[in-house]
Amino acid sequence: MPNDAPDQRDITEPDEERPAPVTARRESRVFAVANQKGGVGKTTTAINLATALAAVGKQVLILDLDPQGNASTGLGIGRAQRNTGSYDVIMGDAPAGLATVATEIPGLFIVPSTLDLSGLELELVNMDRREYRLRDALKPIRLDYDYMLIDCPPALGLLTLNAFAAADAVLVPLQCEFLALEGLSQLVRTIERVQQSFNPTLNIQGIVLTMYDTRNRLSSLVADDVRSYFGDKVYNTVIPRNVRVSEAPSHGKPVLLYDYRCSGSQAYMHLAGEVLRREEGPTQ
Ligand SMILES: Nc1ncnc2c1ncn2[C@@H]1O[C@H](COP(=O)(O)OP(=O)(O)OP(=O)(O)O)[C@@H](O)[C@H]1O
Ligand SMILES: [Mg+2]
Repeated sequence: MPNDAPDQRDITEPDEERPAPVTARRESRVFAVANQKGGVGKTTTAINLATALAAVGKQVLILDLDPQGNASTGLGIGRAQRNTGSYDVIMGDAPAGLATVATEIPGLFIVPSTLDLSGLELELVNMDRREYRLRDALKPIRLDYDYMLIDCPPALGLLTLNAFAAADAVLVPLQCEFLALEGLSQLVRTIERVQQSFNPTLNIQGIVLTMYDTRNRLSSLVADDVRSYFGDKVYNTVIPRNVRVSEAPSHGKPVLLYDYRCSGSQAYMHLAGEVLRREEGPTQ
């Protein structure tokens, strides 16, 4: 199958040419993948949802806004390719286009994280338009992509606020475990405050239940609780706990490239379908 097939790309074929992003038909939709709780599947969701969107022909950019740099590592971007990154973009030292690196997946690009990102929260405190710096920096490239996914760090500090100010919507990965809902209400309050102060049109695209374990009754109890509270904001697709998903990053690959057939890959393809349906609506 040729790489440029309109409906589905063969993501297992590395693209030697790595073409620059083509101009999208409309401004990109920007999603912040966020949850202040650590280890709930933010990075895994950002990488694999982005890959699934690229696989169906979308131009996608990931912004690695986490000093841990897991999205960059998980996409096989080595230290040598991380001279310029989201730190420089937010500081205004490099245009976003110049900090963008192509990945192995056709149509998927990343602005990687660099080590200096860990000091950025403090540097931002006294800066002008400190919450809007990412939004301002992304403006010149919003026609280059269909979707931008911002992988947020596990905190509700200035980096995540920058993501919320730049985003159209928040995508919340939620691990099916004890106290999952407690953290979620704090996140929702933060989103409401951002709506009031910096970004009135920000909304929640959806909540994705991650690491769902069918053998664990707690998983289904938590899932029921979240659904009864948030209703259809919760995607129907549930991401199962799947060892292939956790193995993939150490190979520098999205799980969709590492093992296309495993349950985790299939779930992320379904999730992409749901996200697109919510975006494009039933009439388009
Ligand atoms: N569906 C899954 N099945 C099995 N392991 C998973 C799954 N999703 C994520 N993991 C593993 O769980 C760990 C945490 O996931 P991930 O890094 O995506 O979370 P995170 O919310 O980005 O973490 P942090 O808050 O540190 O940024 C990782 O080791 C990842 O490989
Ligand atoms: Mg992460």
